[in-house]
Amino acid sequence: MEPIKGKKILVTGVTGWVAGPLATSLAAQGNTVFGAARFRDPAQREPWHAQGVQTVSIDLEKDRLDEVPADLDIVLHFAVAKSNNFEEAFASNAHGSANLMEKAAARSDKVSFFHCSSTAVYAPHDHDPRKEDDLLGDSHRPMPGMPTYSISKIAGEVLVQHTAKRLGVPTVIARLNVPYGDNYGWMMFHLMMMERGIPVPVHVDQPTSYTPIHADDIARSIPYLMSYASTPAEIVNWGGDQIVSIEDWCHEMSRLTGIEAKFNPTTATIAAIIPDLAKLHDRGFVTSVDWRDGIRRQIAASRPELLKA
Ligand SMILES: NC(=O)c1ccc[n+]([C@@H]2O[C@H](COP(=O)([O-])OP(=O)(O)OC[C@H]3O[C@@H](n4cnc5c(N)ncnc54)[C@H](OP(=O)(O)O)[C@@H]3O)[C@@H](O)[C@H]2O)c1
Repeated sequence: MEPIKGKKILVTGVTGWVAGPLATSLAAQGNTVFGAARFRDPAQREPWHAQGVQTVSIDLEKDRLDEVPADLDIVLHFAVAKSNNFEEAFASNAHGSANLMEKAAARSDKVSFFHCSSTAVYAPHDHDPRKEDDLLGDSHRPMPGMPTYSISKIAGEVLVQHTAKRLGVPTVIARLNVPYGDNYGWMMFHLMMMERGIPVPVHVDQPTSYTPIHADDIARSIPYLMSYASTPAEIVNWGGDQIVSIEDWCHEMSRLTGIEAKFNPTTATIAAIIPDLAKLHDRGFVTSVDWRDGIRRQIAASRPELLKA
């Protein structure tokens, strides 16, 4: 499918890992892109303007959405609150998502909505690929610091589905697996742990497998996912084509840097979650970045001093 061009797009969560690189790539493709976050410090805005992304301050938790632009074609909603408090998490991730759709639809009768959810909504089931209608569960509860994540992402999906149907907004809910790019990703934390000799938590039910997707492929896949936007909202799993475990990528980082990878098999971490990607592939999408190249690129961009000659 052709990249999206000439559209007026709001990307929320622009100061975060996934949405920032996506917003700049959409701007470079010739779209009018607004990047939204709280922007508590006005100085945070300038780097986005320099990359062709206009900035918009919103606060989903407080329902402060007055800067949402009119006449949008697409909302790509990535903002998320990772909070220990359910009230805050529901306010931002569930109510906030629905309020955002409502505001965008009130200001544009042509808007489509892309809601970034997570494969964190699935109940892990050994290493069996999870289909969109498989059982949901609280997969992230065992992970320290993520007590509200799975449940508030589920709540977000439900309110987004309800609001899409009520307002007639074409919507896709994309359940993202493990995103990474040249300058972000879970594996960067693992590399930092390896440097300090800290064993990397892996699930006792090894290997701790996922389907990581590189930022380049995240950007390329947006038109394929948007082709599912409809009412009622459609749910689509979103990940890379290769099944790769934490153990695999730590061993690869070890090979590239010479730093030993030690593991701590535990139940106090997220179990393997492998999404079934048939729906995404049905539209013809295949990923382009091999995971080993992606890991090498990440270290070369963010920790070049660690790469072996
Ligand atoms: N990272 C992963 O491994 C992963 C995996 C699967 C799915 N996902 C999904 O991918 C999306 C992006 O995740 P991420 O890891 O890139 O997020 P992130 O780095 O934690 O960034 C979160 C973003 O949300 C914004 N935000 C937080 N609270 C807000 C509020 N009350 N009002 C407005 N904006 C708010 C933050 O902006 P400020 O704090 O600057 O205001 C920031 O831009 C999320 O929907 C997430 O659930 C992520």
